[in-house]
Amino acid sequence: MAKTKTQYICQSCGASSPKWLGKCPQCGAWNSMEETVVQTSKGDKRKAATSYGDDHSKLHQLKKVEPDSYSRIPSKIGELDRVLGGGMMPGSVVLIGGEPGIGKSTLLLQLTLQNPDKKIVYVAGEESTAQIKDRADRLGNISENCFISTELIVENLNEQLKKEKPALIIVDSIQTIQSHNLESIPGTISQIRETAYQLINMAKYLNVPLFLVGHITKSGNIAGPKVLEHMVDTVLQFEGEHTGQLRLLRTTKNRFGSTAEIGVFEMQQNGLREVSNPSEILVQHYAEQLTGTAVAVVNEGIRPLMVEVQALVSPATYGTPQRTANGYNHKRLNMLLAVLEKRAGLKLSTRDVFVNIAGGLKIADTAIDLAMAAAIVSSYLDIEIPPHTCFSGEIGLAGEVRPVSRMEQRISEAHRLGYKKIFTRSGNQAGKNITDIRQLVKQLD
Ligand code: TYD
Ligand code: MG
Repeated sequence: MAKTKTQYICQSCGASSPKWLGKCPQCGAWNSMEETVVQTSKGDKRKAATSYGDDHSKLHQLKKVEPDSYSRIPSKIGELDRVLGGGMMPGSVVLIGGEPGIGKSTLLLQLTLQNPDKKIVYVAGEESTAQIKDRADRLGNISENCFISTELIVENLNEQLKKEKPALIIVDSIQTIQSHNLESIPGTISQIRETAYQLINMAKYLNVPLFLVGHITKSGNIAGPKVLEHMVDTVLQFEGEHTGQLRLLRTTKNRFGSTAEIGVFEMQQNGLREVSNPSEILVQHYAEQLTGTAVAVVNEGIRPLMVEVQALVSPATYGTPQRTANGYNHKRLNMLLAVLEKRAGLKLSTRDVFVNIAGGLKIADTAIDLAMAAAIVSSYLDIEIPPHTCFSGEIGLAGEVRPVSRMEQRISEAHRLGYKKIFTRSGNQAGKNITDIRQLVKQLD
């Protein structure tokens, strides 16, 4: 029997070497050589993990290929189904990333408990079986179909899975699994890639969904090689602020659906609760209006969302004024301040500006600009924005307010939540029309 063969492959140029080297002899990159399996112990050639039960020997006429919609398996968690594109696909692999303590294990344990009819194997690399039992007791009823595996050697784990034939596999987390083909410790790039490769092959072989939990690095990316994200079908990011209760599940990659959807949850005493009306949580109703707060209607994914934007403008205490943005793009804030300074005459270069989006959300929709500008102007002039008023519009460099997509949807969300006035750029729509930033200052003044 041939022995497992490994080689050191440069992660930036692909050069190989039989020994580890600190510097790649080909491209000169430092510390880029990673141990990689090139031949397994059985000596078999490695096969690509793409099956889904297809017959590979013949061609498939595209016209006659059956659509996959009816093979989707509902996860019984509506918000999860939503981000997956309508349910779990057999043989598909979902990677869930997120900071420690955000609720990845909780979500997957709830998924396990809510599907008592399915045989589910939960591979526990992070917590003991007793800890999981303790948490599961708090989260709901435990069915007889729920199994915990503590086998962390991928070759043995795959033998176990092959024998047990579960309907769903959860691996918490990929960083704790190791292959005995490699000498490196679990969690290293080569181990992650090798173990993920073998697990993905097993999911395809059994034709069942596989969920992998992935740790996240300081910079917010999923720890491990970028190839891990290429290997899986769907990448979900679980995010939110630890102090807050709101958790967002975002799709950053989805081979089986749109990446525009987000799922919203609230962390409670007894686990994660689905939030189908997030706007109601994100917007506070104060007894009196406060200066520096404005409400924006944004589209996160394809759902309109009302969010509260806050700004604080104060005289700069040090030479260079401070600009701090939470949940809003820092460069965009600088641009917005320059526009307000040049086009609307606000003296912002001598002020510190802090902006914040309530609920710990990060909003990428540029339609938030107008609310951001309104909050800044409101704090600068120290005047309140009238109640039941909201904003939706992008701001351009000339100080113009630009129209945003799916305005009707935004207006109906604002209407549903009892807003009476919406400031936007919309020639033919209901709402207050603003075409220039100067008008905004005049209106507020
Ligand atoms: P966890 O799922 O362990 O996070 P991850 O797997 O992403 O590291 O989440 C743990 C956090 O959630 C912990 O801070 C406690 C909190 N939590 C609740 O508030 N309510 C609950 O019912 C559960 C199970 C956890
Ligand atoms: Mg966990």
